[in-house]
Amino acid sequence: MTLAEKLGQLTMAAAGHAVTGPVIAGDSVEAIKAGIIGNLLNLMGADHVHAMQRLAVEQSRLHIPVLFALDVTHGYRTLFPVSLAEASLFDPEAWALTAREAAKEACADGIAMTFAPMIDVSRDPRWGRSVEGPGEDPWVGARMAEAKVRGTQGAELASADSLAAVAKHYCAYGPVTAGREYASVDISERTLREVHLPPFEAAVRAGAASIMPAFTDLAGIPMTAHAALLDGWLRARLGFEGVLVSDYNAIGELIRHGIAADAAEAAALALKAGVDIDMMASCYRNGLPVALNRGLVTLADIDRSVRRVLALKERLGLFDDPYRRGSAPETDAAIARRRQLARDVAARSIVMLTNRADALPLEGSARTLALVGPLADASAEMRGPWWAAAGPEGQVTALEGLRAALPRSEIRYAPGVAIEAQDTAGIPAAVELCDNADAVVLCLGEAAAMSGEAASRAHLGLPGQQRLLAEAVLERARARSKPAIAVLFSGRPLIVPWLIERADAVLAAWFLGSEAGNAIAEVITGRVSPSGRTAMSWPQAVGQIPLFYGERPSGRPANPVDHYTSKYLDAPNEPQFPFGHGLTYGRFVLSDLTVTPETLQEGGALEARVAVSNEGRKAAEETVFLFVHDKLARVARPVLELKGVAKVRLQPGERGSVRFELPASELRFLGMDLQPVFEPGEVEILVGPCADRKQLLSTTIRLSA
Ligand code: GLC
Repeated sequence: MTLAEKLGQLTMAAAGHAVTGPVIAGDSVEAIKAGIIGNLLNLMGADHVHAMQRLAVEQSRLHIPVLFALDVTHGYRTLFPVSLAEASLFDPEAWALTAREAAKEACADGIAMTFAPMIDVSRDPRWGRSVEGPGEDPWVGARMAEAKVRGTQGAELASADSLAAVAKHYCAYGPVTAGREYASVDISERTLREVHLPPFEAAVRAGAASIMPAFTDLAGIPMTAHAALLDGWLRARLGFEGVLVSDYNAIGELIRHGIAADAAEAAALALKAGVDIDMMASCYRNGLPVALNRGLVTLADIDRSVRRVLALKERLGLFDDPYRRGSAPETDAAIARRRQLARDVAARSIVMLTNRADALPLEGSARTLALVGPLADASAEMRGPWWAAAGPEGQVTALEGLRAALPRSEIRYAPGVAIEAQDTAGIPAAVELCDNADAVVLCLGEAAAMSGEAASRAHLGLPGQQRLLAEAVLERARARSKPAIAVLFSGRPLIVPWLIERADAVLAAWFLGSEAGNAIAEVITGRVSPSGRTAMSWPQAVGQIPLFYGERPSGRPANPVDHYTSKYLDAPNEPQFPFGHGLTYGRFVLSDLTVTPETLQEGGALEARVAVSNEGRKAAEETVFLFVHDKLARVARPVLELKGVAKVRLQPGERGSVRFELPASELRFLGMDLQPVFEPGEVEILVGPCADRKQLLSTTIRLSA
């Protein structure tokens, strides 16, 4: 291979329009034929992919196949709920299933790699990318990482329906300063290792083919040049043997980070740190020859990365058959099954935040429904950010879903206002719509583009004039004694205490994808009992952020009667809704927690059981969380740590139980030296419906050496 051909294998260019950053590389056709671009992103369609592949395989000197990649983050053409919504299922099996289906659909269009799963833990809803990830908890992040990698890559990476998974964004992108996108990150080594690394360790152990460093720095060292965490932790410590692909132009941005004077230095820093593929910066192609001449890198450094990239292409089966992906169109039956899965998962992603006086479900009572709000008939918005090959039409809207579910009801619709506009002229007509309706459903929230990348928000209320609309409609509904339901569409927890207070019921519908409207209708009509549980705490005020359940104790814990304790003068400490919160149409009571053995050795395992009864009027599924709290340790431990989740579905009046098994090794923590330690002493075991201590059953066991 010539140097140019080697560097071509280390280069990824955007083949189509650039969707995630400035376009730097020009037309790829000549570069592909010359073998100086070996990887492409953002090209979709088996015919386009195969045409480009033929240029490489038939016209380039070495006939090395091109690797085609895309952001298939929550579906390809059939969209599942966005990741933060899917996290509400707390169901790794479902997470793997949707990833498997997304991979099949993308592979059928010739794609071989996806920049997913995104497994950045986020405790800051101001950060727009919270929507793409697993929420605030590292245990959930690790379970989602495992499930998504396995589902995406399937049993055999060379299969025609397997994608190479790129776990991203390594690492600790979530705690950007003030929730502001791309801002600097500065966290403790302990928080890095206890919160942000575990999902990536899980991804590596699950066999992730690739990892993408984050745009951000970590305490002054940009992740794209962080040798200690890339080559050091991932490769040397965890044995990761896959490919590190930079984020979009991230190598070039080392210059703006202030650690590289030019493209050659940026390229050298990234290559020496372990980054194999340069996405869209052209620093490797143009900078590494200069870096070689300056002695900043060696040919051995380059060859090491080239081997990794070629090995990945080999593992993907690209050398055996470069056209394997995209050669077998999917059957209509397979696509229909996928849509049904999308509908089931979407319904399970909905979190019922409130339901005063059982306002929901609206069963036969609603002969005339007033459907109001800018998200009620917004197909494009149902996609959420990162919609891959899903067009603006084709997602089922709330209006379409309710009309399909209630064919004998009259569903009247008025947007009232636009999502972000200031125009309020449509509010009176929307309010009048409610006058002789049996119930009102408000569809409010964010536009899809208001979360995801480059979408941080400093204010977390409803955009535009939606509050004015909602208050007018809620007032009229109250005046007419009609139930008023609010459905919130967002990529993050929103801060809307006034709406929580006034609406009779509130559903968090996130962005549910292709089957959004049908899923919402199934929950509103009671055909499906909501079972989702929020994977992020919902703040009451933006000033509470970062807000998460797993805080370490204060030496002056909040105490309402003692002034000098950890609290605000003007806001509560508690969230509006805690991690794990979500109501169902059942009414569950937990009792009789038993944990054995009472004394646990390091090689053993504990078993926890709890009785669950459904004292409600409807069948429903309950989610039960297992937390631990190490009350006395050489390092202060979080007040709660999630260690397990279990589910049980019960009929009205039925009594059941859930069981947890937890290896004692899961009770180790990082000691003063940041090494894992199993420390004798008492540990509290807590079980319940969410991360609110007042709702948890607890007992204490003893760990012994
Ligand atoms: C973006 C994102 C990354 C994505 C990549 C390719 O800037 O940060 O998540 O995978 O570019 O689209």
